[in-house]
Amino acid sequence: MALSIGIVGAGTMGAGIAHVAALHKINVSLYDINEEVIRRSVERINFEMKRGVDKSKISEEDMKQAMNRIKKRTNINDLDTCDIIIEAVLEDIRVKKDLFKKLDQVAHHTTILATNTSSLSVTSIASATKKPERVIGMHFFNPVHLMKLVEVVKGTLTSDETVKRTTEIAHQIGKKTVQTKDTPGFIVNRVARPFYGEALKLLSEGVASVQEIDHIVKNSGGFKMGPFELMDLIGNDVNLSVTESVYEQMYHDPRFRPSPLQKQMVEAGLFGKKSKKGFYNYEEL
Ligand SMILES: NC(=O)c1ccc[n+]([C@@H]2O[C@H](COP(=O)([O-])OP(=O)(O)OC[C@H]3O[C@@H](n4cnc5c(N)ncnc54)[C@H](O)[C@@H]3O)[C@@H](O)[C@H]2O)c1
Repeated sequence: MALSIGIVGAGTMGAGIAHVAALHKINVSLYDINEEVIRRSVERINFEMKRGVDKSKISEEDMKQAMNRIKKRTNINDLDTCDIIIEAVLEDIRVKKDLFKKLDQVAHHTTILATNTSSLSVTSIASATKKPERVIGMHFFNPVHLMKLVEVVKGTLTSDETVKRTTEIAHQIGKKTVQTKDTPGFIVNRVARPFYGEALKLLSEGVASVQEIDHIVKNSGGFKMGPFELMDLIGNDVNLSVTESVYEQMYHDPRFRPSPLQKQMVEAGLFGKKSKKGFYNYEEL
């Protein structure tokens, strides 16, 4: 029988995971507390797949079949028979723990419960469940249809069987995996903190502009995107939560201190691409 994935949270990441999984012939149940978000998310997936058809990356028939594999779910109980449930809600430990407590009751006892957290402790999230051995981190990257890597995060009590099955599922979605310890920010987000942090410091100190920093990093550094473009893509709200979470978990190590500028951007609603305004303006797009 075809693999079935439940996704909780149909925002940027949930939609991206649904898109890629459906194209890899996996049945997807897409759930969010906000029904309107689910509707918009499916619309966006349809739009992105259509672009794939226009660029001859996928056929119209592939698109039709993939879209049919995505089921909108407005009741979390409908995820009960999924092989794996991937959570992609807010980067907030209390919200994630409440959700995992609920998922532990809803999901079949063989279902894997995965979190797409960027930085939070998988062990802490798992502590909200009665079966921490089936809880794991499955950290995808944005945009999911382009980024090949998934960090598979083994919590203190995650079983080897859960790690093995999750790794197989990630491969079935067409991803490459790296297994990482349950440490704040795992590998990629730990390395990425100073990338954003130093760029924000340079900007705050008036050393260079957003455009100048991005330009130098791309054209002299050889990076595909500059730090400000990347922060706008991730979402400044999500990125701030990740920075704050790593800082807290590292017992306020000054190397990871969040930037007041980042906080101001979030308070002003300048989230980036998803709100049409961030370090850059996307209203024309
Ligand atoms: N944005 C990125 O670049 C990125 C990359 C990798 C990992 N992540 C992680 O993925 C997770 C989601 O990030 P995002 O950027 O997709 O966020 P987002 O803000 O785009 O989407 C979050 C969604 O979760 C929904 N939600 C909130 N509480 C819920 C609940 N209790 N039950 C069901 N749905 C709920 C919201 O309605 C929203 O649609 C975070 O943990 C984030 O750290 C984000």
